[in-house]
Amino acid sequence: MKLKVFSLHETKTVAENFAKTIKAGDVVILNGDLGAGKTTFTQFVLHSLGVKDFVNSPTFSIVKSYVGKFKFYHIDAYRINLDEAIESGLDEILNEQNAVFFIEWAENISALIPVTHKTINIKFINDTTREIDIKG
Ligand SMILES: Nc1ncnc2c1ncn2[C@@H]1O[C@H](COP(=O)(O)OP(=O)(O)OP(=O)(O)O)[C@@H](O)[C@H]1O
Ligand SMILES: [Mg+2]
Repeated sequence: MKLKVFSLHETKTVAENFAKTIKAGDVVILNGDLGAGKTTFTQFVLHSLGVKDFVNSPTFSIVKSYVGKFKFYHIDAYRINLDEAIESGLDEILNEQNAVFFIEWAENISALIPVTHKTINIKFINDTTREIDIKG
């Protein structure tokens, strides 16, 4: 499903609709350039699933966990490779049953990504416009 959004508010609406499809154990891969809106989209999904904490970019901590309707992990693999991911225990975290995962820069740790996952591709069009493609 490919959608064009023209504002942050429209991204929020798309994220809220996507959130309704989330089930325990889901793995969501978010692809897109730096600043495309992967963290922003994740933040909207988590908030709509009952996470109260402020959700900021996990870039400096690799992984952050949240509790709402599900246990969530938000992983940003931008700065790491597979060895570092395993050293950080990401492989064990990804084995956690029933948690829901949102992963940015998953290509850096592709060997750890479960085969079954949902994919969200976000394309920067201009300052406020994005193309959001949801698969799976
Ligand atoms: N329609 C929109 N949808 C999403 N983000 C938007 C939109 N319009 C403007 N933005 C802005 O674009 C920026 C997206 O930043 P964000 O941190 O979410 O990107 P990212 O893909 O996670 O980048 P990184 O790879 O660096 O982690 C935010 O500042 C957000 O407010
Ligand atoms: Mg991000």
